[in-house]
Amino acid sequence: MIDISENELDNILNNTIKDFQKNLELTKIKEDIIPDSIKWLFLSGKGGVGKTTCSCSLGIKYSEKFLKTNKKVLIVSTDPAHNLSDAFNQQFTDAPLLVDTFENLYCMEYDTKKGIKEAQEEFCKKYNVNEINKNFNYSQMSDLSDLFKKIPGIDEALGFLYLVKKLGKMDYDLIIFDTAPTGHTSKLLSYPQILKDSYNKMINKPMGQMFKMFINNSMNQGKDKLSEIIDRINKLNEKLTDPEYTTFICVGIPEFLSVYENERFIQDLFSMNINVSGIIINQLLSDKNCINDFWKKRKNMQDKYLNVIRDLYENDFFLCYNELQDEEIRGPQKLREFSDKLFKNKKLNMKGPSVNLENL
Ligand SMILES: Nc1ncnc2c1ncn2[C@@H]1O[C@H](COP(=O)(O)OP(=O)(O)OP(=O)(O)O)[C@@H](O)[C@H]1O
Ligand SMILES: [Mg+2]
Repeated sequence: MIDISENELDNILNNTIKDFQKNLELTKIKEDIIPDSIKWLFLSGKGGVGKTTCSCSLGIKYSEKFLKTNKKVLIVSTDPAHNLSDAFNQQFTDAPLLVDTFENLYCMEYDTKKGIKEAQEEFCKKYNVNEINKNFNYSQMSDLSDLFKKIPGIDEALGFLYLVKKLGKMDYDLIIFDTAPTGHTSKLLSYPQILKDSYNKMINKPMGQMFKMFINNSMNQGKDKLSEIIDRINKLNEKLTDPEYTTFICVGIPEFLSVYENERFIQDLFSMNINVSGIIINQLLSDKNCINDFWKKRKNMQDKYLNVIRDLYENDFFLCYNELQDEEIRGPQKLREFSDKLFKNKKLNMKGPSVNLENL
């Protein structure tokens, strides 16, 4: 029998309870990685780092959390090269579809081309193009559509505005945007400005007279349709820059290009007043698997960048990570397992001296 005093036993029990509470608290923090108020969560990062896999993992985590309160999660892919269907192993379309084996998790793959076409049609309807047609000949009309084409990004911008309008009519409590690699996401975020600039350009160009007719025409109908669109653009801007409404999680791997691209993107987001909540570091090598020189060397390289990541973000964002798995992460079950691992309470393995990104 172990000889132990009552005091010692009390101490042991108290410490065990404290440890347990601390772990519980940390687990809770890890699971509630974004504020409850957030409605739009964007995942960004370089190509192939794991944005789609992590979008699915977050979707799964939040759908589990929301189940008790009857809330719903939607994952939207805005990447023209969709792979939500591949990840869940289920065919999705551009309308939300319930994910197999889930009760409150939906996916949709936004068809950008179709969205742009619908947005253009909506635009023409708004400005009553048929009315204008009576007053202008065909070549003038095609001049106007040329003008449209010459404004860089206007088509996609209208398409995104149209997606936002569609999403606004749906009643999801959290929408996760699985985006295309970083460059495209920067473009996507500049859409509100592109739209505003486009209207200014149109009015100030020779064809602007015709555009003014559009406006007058719509105003004559008793409704100022132009200010209605500008209103929508402003609202989109407000949502994107509201840290209670929109936040970003950057996904990356511990390698120079990924760390560098994420850092540049985070700076861009800050300059646009867009909030960032955290960083997911994916495809980490574990010590136990690095048994030969090749893998040990790669592990050392990863450790170097993990230190950079820690130095850059530890104080401002949550950091969580997942290891490189030895199998494909496809289908609901594999994604559930990946999601559980991602949100387990682990500390990043920090080794070696800290390194400055600029000196690399
Ligand atoms: N931790 C991991 N371990 C093993 N495989 C992984 C891991 N994370 C992602 N993968 C795999 O890597 C591939 C790319 O992942 P994913 O599609 O999520 O990346 P992505 O950033 O969305 O790519 P893209 O930029 O092309 O959209 C997929 O086959 C995925 O299953
Ligand atoms: Mg993807």
